[in-house]
Amino acid sequence: MYTLSPMPLKTAEAIGARVQELGQAISVEYDFDMVISVLTGSFVFTADLCRAFAQGEKNTQREIRFIKASSYGNSTVSSGELKVSGMESLDLKEKKILLVDDILDTGRTLLALVGMIKSQGAAEVRSCVLLDKPSRRQVHMEADYCGFEIDDLFVVGYGLDYSDKYRLLPDIWTLKNS
Ligand code: IMP
Ligand code: MG
Repeated sequence: MYTLSPMPLKTAEAIGARVQELGQAISVEYDFDMVISVLTGSFVFTADLCRAFAQGEKNTQREIRFIKASSYGNSTVSSGELKVSGMESLDLKEKKILLVDDILDTGRTLLALVGMIKSQGAAEVRSCVLLDKPSRRQVHMEADYCGFEIDDLFVVGYGLDYSDKYRLLPDIWTLKNS
């Protein structure tokens, strides 16, 4: 039986402020052509981040694509087997890509996705994650942009799920096994 922590780990307000900072920093440092958003967990983050980019002629020309990656199934522990769909049909040749995911955990998902994007001919790939759990890393992978580093906790809300529940909560909460 899982229950939410009594208080949010990150409030909607704190997330909103940090996403604004990320959007501004990326706009200044990286002149990307296309956002690739990793469904399902990053759908809320992606929507907020896109609206935090500096507006102007360049931003009107950028594209956004969605791929699906899943490795968790109905568990809080990764199954280790990564399923990716929607990547093959993307035309990434010579494009500068901003890859947006929800959480960097073992690092396996992001490492695999960056490799796939490069192998499809992208000129450059940078990654942006909302949350990073550095203590969980199993492979060498760091995100170029990160919202918050967190401890080894299972978190839900703001798009993040446990077994496809809790995604609609505006804050990020810790899920406790009780
Ligand atoms: P990795 O391949 O182990 O880095 O796993 C990354 C993916 O696992 C993320 O994109 C999330 O979908 C999922 N994940 C990892 N930790 C959590 C968590 O605390 N809550 C919800 N999903 C998580
Ligand atoms: Mg995910």
